Amino acid sequence: MIPMVDLKRQYAALKMEIDAAVSDVLEKTQFILGPNVGKLEEEVAAYHGLAYAAGVANGTDALLLALRACGIKSGDEVITTPFTFIATAEVVAQLGAIPVFVDICPDTFNINPDLIEEKITPRTKAIIPVHLFGHPADMEPIMQTAAKHNLKVIEDCAQAFGARYQNRRTGTIGDVGCFSFFPSKNLGCYGDGGMVITKDETIARQVKMLRNHGSQVRYHHSEVGYNSRLDEIQAAILRVKLKYIDQFNEARRSNAAAYCAALDNKNIIPPSTAQGSEHVFHQFTIRAQNRDAIARALTEKEIASAVYYPVPLHQQEVFVKLFDYSISLPVSEMCAREVLSLPMFPELSGKEIQLIADVVRSTF
Ligand SMILES: Cc1ncc(COP(=O)(O)O)c(C=O)c1O
Repeated sequence: MIPMVDLKRQYAALKMEIDAAVSDVLEKTQFILGPNVGKLEEEVAAYHGLAYAAGVANGTDALLLALRACGIKSGDEVITTPFTFIATAEVVAQLGAIPVFVDICPDTFNINPDLIEEKITPRTKAIIPVHLFGHPADMEPIMQTAAKHNLKVIEDCAQAFGARYQNRRTGTIGDVGCFSFFPSKNLGCYGDGGMVITKDETIARQVKMLRNHGSQVRYHHSEVGYNSRLDEIQAAILRVKLKYIDQFNEARRSNAAAYCAALDNKNIIPPSTAQGSEHVFHQFTIRAQNRDAIARALTEKEIASAVYYPVPLHQQEVFVKLFDYSISLPVSEMCAREVLSLPMFPELSGKEIQLIADVVRSTF
């Protein structure tokens, strides 16, 4: 049995350090916004070379609070990709704003910067590029369009902790970077967790206020906020894992290279890495016309695979009901039909990769 992600292998390797970190929190009993949350914020900000970071309850809230801190409100339009997890656009709708979907590039699965400008209206206030599967979105033209039209840029880095675009970490290029620490993410905790990073002091202060019931001074509330604090135990675990993130991402890249070599076949389109980008392979996602047959063959051999994502967001029932999209976004629709993600985690062995690739190739 080969799962998509095997978290047990990583825990076994880090068990002593993680158990000690958790035990220390239990003994100190400072469970809410304790020292580990503050230290993790400093360490994640330093990793990115930015001044500010704010831990929140999950990646969805990271996006929601970032949008609010950027002033997004009811009736605003926010441009994003339809080929992503629902959370990216869900938070826009939660604020009464309207997600406007722009089609993607078939090679990187990320928003196509050339198609953004035609979707801008006087109501457009922000762009949310997603660094999907760990590959950076093409930020330079996105930032140029945003500057021209005075739009905020909120980077969805949920799948891309540690990735780089032209030598800059993803999350540091736009106004705000939003991370998820969901257990299976490249940097994952043992429950839910998230973080917002920014160079903008006002945005950072706003997010910290919103995550704590709209309060900066205890029992004084200036805005309608949320209970969305990063948990102290999760922060302690994340501080251990952060020390290894570059090593983990390097192992993912080397696994991806092994997959590409083993899967060399004209019927398979392997994931590509754009020039100047450093991919962190949150997912290893191929495209193939017969992806359902491949998935069935893998299941027979007890090997997991997954379709991220089978329905692009402009076709999701929830958004069709809310916004009546009658658009066609052909590249996203094609990718939804052809993508298949194969098991990917740092501890995956060369032998397992070879076995998976043999099963995939046996379907042609
Ligand atoms: C692209 C993307 N955005 C946002 C999220 C939301 O993160 P969370 O599950 O931590 O709320 C996720 C992950 O689940 C994601 O993959």
